[in-house]
Amino acid sequence: MKNLTIKSVFKVYHFDELSDADQKLVLKAKDACKKSYAPYSNFAVGAAAQLANGTVVTGSNQENAAYPSGTCAERTTLFYANSEYPDQPVKTLAVAAYNQGSYLAQPIPPCGACRQVVLETEKRYKQPIRILLYGEKEIYECQGIADLLPLSFDASAMD
Ligand code: THU
Repeated sequence: MKNLTIKSVFKVYHFDELSDADQKLVLKAKDACKKSYAPYSNFAVGAAAQLANGTVVTGSNQENAAYPSGTCAERTTLFYANSEYPDQPVKTLAVAAYNQGSYLAQPIPPCGACRQVVLETEKRYKQPIRILLYGEKEIYECQGIADLLPLSFDASAMD
């Protein structure tokens, strides 16, 4: 028996330590929370994706009375980006969430399904997606989905 240790690396920022571009992206993710449709959870999530050509696409969670039919903000955003701009790799994805009258104090952790979709998008464009998880107190940045989804399953497992 031996141990396998997998390391994740995150940088932790205060908002005013981010670059101008990242501040703008995070603000767009926060703003996208206002367009959330979340009558069941009242948990509004917004995301903003910066594409290689500079375009920023935003999205939010869209819920449904038949709960599993709804979609998270990250997937709304990535699917919209990839369908509207199929030739543009996603460079950075920022995520924010608003609940009970304020944005989350701690960085919003994306769900497992969204992590898998970020992975697929990385594989599709053959490049990592930098991820910014917004919290009012601090913001986490990682350089790719491997830090959020270690030991991941992708198409190479089926070769
Ligand atoms: N949600 C997201 O949109 N993104 C996440 O990263 C976590 C959860 C949504 C799904 C659902 O509409 C609500 O938040 C509560 O789970």
